[in-house]
Amino acid sequence: MFSQDRGHGMQLLLHLFIIINISNSVQSACRIDINADLSNVSRMILHPYSSSTDGYRFYLPPAGQGSLNLLPNQELAFACPLGLYEHARCVSGTAFEFSTHSRQLNVSDITCRRQLKPIVRNLGKCNNNEFNHLGVGVTLRIDSTTHEFIKLMDFCFNPILRIPQYAKFLLMQGVENGQRNVKRQNFTCSTFFGNLSQNFEEIYNKRNQYQKLNQLLGSRNLTEKYLNMSASSDLFLAKGHLAAFIDFVYYSQQQATAICENTAPMWQALRKNNWRKLENMIRQYANENGIDLTIYSGTYNVLRLNNTAGEMVPIFLTIDTEGRNIVPVPQLFWKIVYDRLMRQGIVFVLINNHDSNLTPSHYEVCQDVCNRTDSWFQNLDRKQIQMGYIYCCNVNDFLEATNVVSEFREIVVGLLT
Ligand SMILES: *[C@@H]1O[C@H](CO)[C@@H](O)[C@H](O)[C@H]1NC(C)=O
Ligand SMILES: *[C@@H]1O[C@H](CO)[C@@H](O)[C@H](O)[C@H]1NC(C)=O
Ligand SMILES: *[C@@H]1O[C@H](CO)[C@@H](O)[C@H](O)[C@H]1NC(C)=O
Ligand SMILES: *[C@@H]1O[C@H](CO)[C@@H](O)[C@H](O)[C@H]1NC(C)=O
Ligand SMILES: *[C@@H]1O[C@H](CO)[C@@H](O)[C@H](O)[C@H]1NC(C)=O
Ligand SMILES: *[C@@H]1O[C@H](CO)[C@@H](O)[C@H](O)[C@H]1NC(C)=O
Ligand SMILES: *[C@@H]1O[C@H](CO)[C@@H](O)[C@H](O)[C@H]1NC(C)=O
Ligand SMILES: *[C@@H]1O[C@H](CO)[C@@H](O)[C@H](O)[C@H]1NC(C)=O
Repeated sequence: MFSQDRGHGMQLLLHLFIIINISNSVQSACRIDINADLSNVSRMILHPYSSSTDGYRFYLPPAGQGSLNLLPNQELAFACPLGLYEHARCVSGTAFEFSTHSRQLNVSDITCRRQLKPIVRNLGKCNNNEFNHLGVGVTLRIDSTTHEFIKLMDFCFNPILRIPQYAKFLLMQGVENGQRNVKRQNFTCSTFFGNLSQNFEEIYNKRNQYQKLNQLLGSRNLTEKYLNMSASSDLFLAKGHLAAFIDFVYYSQQQATAICENTAPMWQALRKNNWRKLENMIRQYANENGIDLTIYSGTYNVLRLNNTAGEMVPIFLTIDTEGRNIVPVPQLFWKIVYDRLMRQGIVFVLINNHDSNLTPSHYEVCQDVCNRTDSWFQNLDRKQIQMGYIYCCNVNDFLEATNVVSEFREIVVGLLT
């Protein structure tokens, strides 16, 4: 009796095991591990029949998974920027068969010869016709007559002061498990960044920062309050990015963030502490909640510091070819995080000043609503000025107070908590 039952149970288990095994192998005949199988020369992996011209054109991993799992015979498009564009179907494992030359290739061998380079396009004006609307992404050559631009980011760029007002992009839910086996590129400046009297790397050189601050503030003492020339100190201005390299899944997308138009001077001590933690938190949020977030990431105003005469003077890092101050140090960095489906959003604002004597309320452009949510600040002390003081606002309050996104068309009905 007992043994019979057990036997039956065993059979059932065996049966279940087979079903699970079969259904597993049916569900994913191919598996592309984003870090083990892809490199810095891998082709872009795209939906083969998509009409998307933005980030959704890419075949993306779901939240919480570091791989793409494909059905037998499922098709993908493998493309190089302005190069090959071919369909291939999943055979098994990492093997794909190309219809064009009926050859099987291991996905790690599906590569491009040329190095990936971001494309920056002029898309007109923004900020009430004052600034330049730029689109940044990659261009596909579908065939000899059809080109397609995949836009990954929109920028509203101030061409006089050479500073982005904001970047807008989609933060995909699978981003937490994006490609990490690649090196970041140096920033390259497109013609939209304009002519400079110094090259871009020189602008951010510490010696240049010292000279410029000393000239604006009028004393070494005041300069050294903000800037420490010791190589191990974080008191200097770094190339702060609006869209982070790891805000995108694939290297082919990530490299589009390495453009000068995506940078503004941010104190390194803030950048590597609370700002980085906040960015991690936002990516985690997308992953844990399985939602794609719309991000607007930008700058506001110019940081003013006390000079020897006791006046608050605006801080810039360099001059243009006509001697006018350009590349301002922003007073605030901000991020609007928006869930389009729920129509909920929140703004995080960073005070770009590490002076522990500053009064945060002097930098508050809207009412701090951080205490209406507890999901964002588990790993960071947001009120530590020397690590980066961060406060939160309602999207509508913030935009009304600053008008930094005059073309904002999203409807926000609640706080994203
Ligand atoms: C790609 O990676 C290889 C090996 O890690 C490296 O030698 C090469 O410089 C990288 N190329 C680019 C463009 O990053
Ligand atoms: C495919 O490439 C990966 C990485 O280079 C390698 O580990 C794997 O053995 C290859 N698979 C086949 C079937 O050749
Ligand atoms: C990248 O920039 C650094 C300075 O920040 C420079 O030393 C290095 O040579 C640059 N690398 C390339 C490949 O241009
Ligand atoms: C930048 O410099 C080049 C060469 O010096 C010049 O031809 C061009 O007109 C300049 N562009 C701007 C926007 O000043
Ligand atoms: C600069 O700082 C030093 C040390 O803190 C102080 O002794 C000196 O009087 C200061 N100089 C000026 C011009 O404020
Ligand atoms: C500058 O930074 C170094 C290294 O962090 C530190 O030892 C030194 O005390 C700092 N200097 C000043 C004036 O704060
Ligand atoms: C600026 O300097 C003046 C005179 O030295 C001082 O009274 C004032 O408190 C300073 N302001 C700030 C914000 O540090
Ligand atoms: C949140 O902060 C506001 C203003 O700082 C305060 O008036 C309110 O009591 C706080 N609410 C909670 C729940 O702590």
